[in-house]
Amino acid sequence: MTTIETLSDVAPAAHAVDIRELPTPPYRGTTLPDIDYDAHPAYGGMLPKPTLSERLYALKIFVKTFAFVSLRRIVDYENMPLLSKEAGFSGLNFSTALRYVTMFARIRASRMIGTLTGARRPAMPANPALLNKIKADGIVCLTLAPEELDQIRNATNPGFAKLDERRANILPEKRKFDDNVYWCTRTADPAAFATVENVFKRYGIIEAASAYLGRPVGVKHVNGQINDQDLTFWKRVFPDTKLADPWGSYLHIDATYGMLKCAIYVHDIGPDGGPFCYIRGSQNARIGWFEGMVRRTNDFCGFSGRRPDARQKFMALPAFLRRKADFGGDLPDNSPDVARLREGHFAATSNYGNCVLFDGNGMHRGGMVNKGERRCLFILLAEI
Ligand SMILES: [Fe+2]
Repeated sequence: MTTIETLSDVAPAAHAVDIRELPTPPYRGTTLPDIDYDAHPAYGGMLPKPTLSERLYALKIFVKTFAFVSLRRIVDYENMPLLSKEAGFSGLNFSTALRYVTMFARIRASRMIGTLTGARRPAMPANPALLNKIKADGIVCLTLAPEELDQIRNATNPGFAKLDERRANILPEKRKFDDNVYWCTRTADPAAFATVENVFKRYGIIEAASAYLGRPVGVKHVNGQINDQDLTFWKRVFPDTKLADPWGSYLHIDATYGMLKCAIYVHDIGPDGGPFCYIRGSQNARIGWFEGMVRRTNDFCGFSGRRPDARQKFMALPAFLRRKADFGGDLPDNSPDVARLREGHFAATSNYGNCVLFDGNGMHRGGMVNKGERRCLFILLAEI
């Protein structure tokens, strides 16, 4: 364990922070795993060859979605205000589109002026050790004090209560991923934002995120998540086959860009409690612009799914477009990539901390609960 507390490491503004050393070595690969889908037993190994019309159809959907994903990237969607009901967005029509375009133009213009005048710049890291760790490993585990965790619990309990109520009305087998997430809003849950922001400022987390991302950053979202042993999204990966579930199931990179995320454990999480897991240092793997877009496009248009119809559509794409952001379930256990991934795979159980800051561009997974229930907060840090 390394306690960062020397004056040379910490500016007066940041509290001393307890950062645990990770037990795994960094990822030795330089790219994301390359998967041979023609040889994969659930893809080329069993599916019929796609017809010409299937190929054309898949390509049409891909191109349309690629345009959508490109647009999101160009407008820097993750770093713009949300089109939420809270912001008065009632659905896409001429008036809301006009409103969004006007807002977009106004924000872009003010950011540009800020950049030119030097007013819009990344924060100075109050805690350089934190910044250096996230740069090197893509993940940092911190330990918040018990009273800070109590404050966070108190501020987010109302949100978790609403989530409990919602989940109680849906049978476990019918619950979708989103049924287990409660998105706090600044109007309905101001205490959740204020408490998290206070704690983050105390440790220099917001400044470190800003310096890492190279832009001003704030707490964009706070959401509560409940996962339990009934939510088995990572099991039965290929439901129509007898193939055993692969080790890499649910390993993915995020479809989002330009943000850091933070998981706060509101109770202790052991190896069976669905800890957040990360391939140490994998955020530094080389993913070209086009490759990143292709991976996200397949996730957005549903071609990354593993039911037979989704796999059939995926296989109808030209080989160079067959890449996913959610690729882990397709990794055969005997591939050399898996050996490298296992080596760098780190499970952030509670003994490493209760506040896990990470870059979603690195390979990760979490919420795979074997026993009991996991209650966790996810905080998204982006330009707001
Ligand atoms: Fe993720």
